[in-house]
Amino acid sequence: MIDFKLSSKYNRTVMQKVEHRIKHADSIARKLIKKGYTPTFENAISKLNDIIGIRIVCLYSDDVYKIAEILKQQKDLLLIKEKDYIKTPKKSGYQSLHLIMDIPLIYNTDTEYQRVEIQIRTVAMDFWAGVDNHICYKKDPEEIKRAETDLKNYSAVISKMDEQMLELRKKVEKM
Ligand code: GTP
Ligand code: MG
Repeated sequence: MIDFKLSSKYNRTVMQKVEHRIKHADSIARKLIKKGYTPTFENAISKLNDIIGIRIVCLYSDDVYKIAEILKQQKDLLLIKEKDYIKTPKKSGYQSLHLIMDIPLIYNTDTEYQRVEIQIRTVAMDFWAGVDNHICYKKDPEEIKRAETDLKNYSAVISKMDEQMLELRKKVEKM
């Protein structure tokens, strides 16, 4: 619905890809232990924001904010937290806009809110995050260190690329 709204407003496909995943029980337990909590159902619900994850990928960096605005305007969705790793990338170089939201789930007559982490990013940012994720599995610490430095540099390249692609789109729109 949001996708349809945006696509008809801008006359192009805005959301290129929408993915969702539910965190596996073993990675929920691992994350809780890492954060210093006992791995219980209650802690999983109250301490983790990303048991349900949604990722929206778009072509241009301004699309990220258009999508976020629409989500924030939805009256039935509650914004819990917003993290802008595009304006301020993480130390690794990771870029994305994260919205932590509570979304209503209706069971018969009851409404229960479910916490979701929505990651919104460009194709280039998604590419970077995919490579970063893959490289994290490499075992040799020296090799990882070098890769981390390279990745951080590539994050800047990607952000420049996103800027140029946006400028190009704006130029073409004026034609
Ligand atoms: P937790 O991830 O829940 O410990 O909390 P946090 O405050 O660190 O959350 P944050 O919003 O920073 O990151 C949540 C998600 O973003 C992660 O589960 C990843 O999917 C993604 N992410 C964050 N940092 C990186 C990064 O450096 N590289 C990659 N590839 N993904 C990242
Ligand atoms: Mg994290």
